[in-house]
Amino acid sequence: MNRGLFITFEGIDGAGKSSHIARLADALRGAGREVVLTREPGGTPLAETLRELLLHQPMDALTEVLLAFAARRDHLRQVIGPALAKGCVVLCDRFTDATFAYQGAGRGLDGALLSYMERVAQTGIAQNDDLMLDPDMTLWFDLPPAVAAARLADARAPDRFESQPQAFFSRVAQGYADRAAQAPQRMFRIDAALEREQVAEQMLAAVAARGWLSADSHG
Ligand code: TMP
Repeated sequence: MNRGLFITFEGIDGAGKSSHIARLADALRGAGREVVLTREPGGTPLAETLRELLLHQPMDALTEVLLAFAARRDHLRQVIGPALAKGCVVLCDRFTDATFAYQGAGRGLDGALLSYMERVAQTGIAQNDDLMLDPDMTLWFDLPPAVAAARLADARAPDRFESQPQAFFSRVAQGYADRAAQAPQRMFRIDAALEREQVAEQMLAAVAARGWLSADSHG
């Protein structure tokens, strides 16, 4: 099977990752790749419905994690798995690292429970595939929580996560740092405190270093 590439984008709210995803999509298309842009929670009608609940309805941390993984499994089965099987590059705004950072580090849920759910929810996506589906690369936009909070202050009406205190985002940021330490090959840290253009350069250089922006990097 000609499997594509799965690249995810992570960081605390206000880190500015979303504006860079389109930029990477353009660069990949310029290299002749077919690109699918998507996000979590979301990406399918069911998962977008679950996203609305997760962002706006009061619930406890375990309910959050159950909804996040339910949305993820549907997204993997309907969109991400089929796109990878076709050889596309899938660019996904957030994935399971967000669950470890927000529900694990932020809300205090047990990491072993999340790892178990990760394995169950992300396995058996393609037919006869008993491997856990995991990103090939994760671009982690790292920004001090105080800077992110200042950026968010001008944003639209905050959702349940954006309205959390800075102490919550300090824990989430630490959660991302811990995930990156556990998966240094997969997670690439981007200094999101730099100017927008420099942030884009770091991102493009990291992807180019893997050979994925060359026109002959795929068959
Ligand atoms: P977004 O606004 O960047 O699209 O992300 C939606 C929010 O959902 C963001 O505050 C992080 C949160 N989230 C979780 O808490 N757990 C998850 O598993 C995911 C994917 C997102």
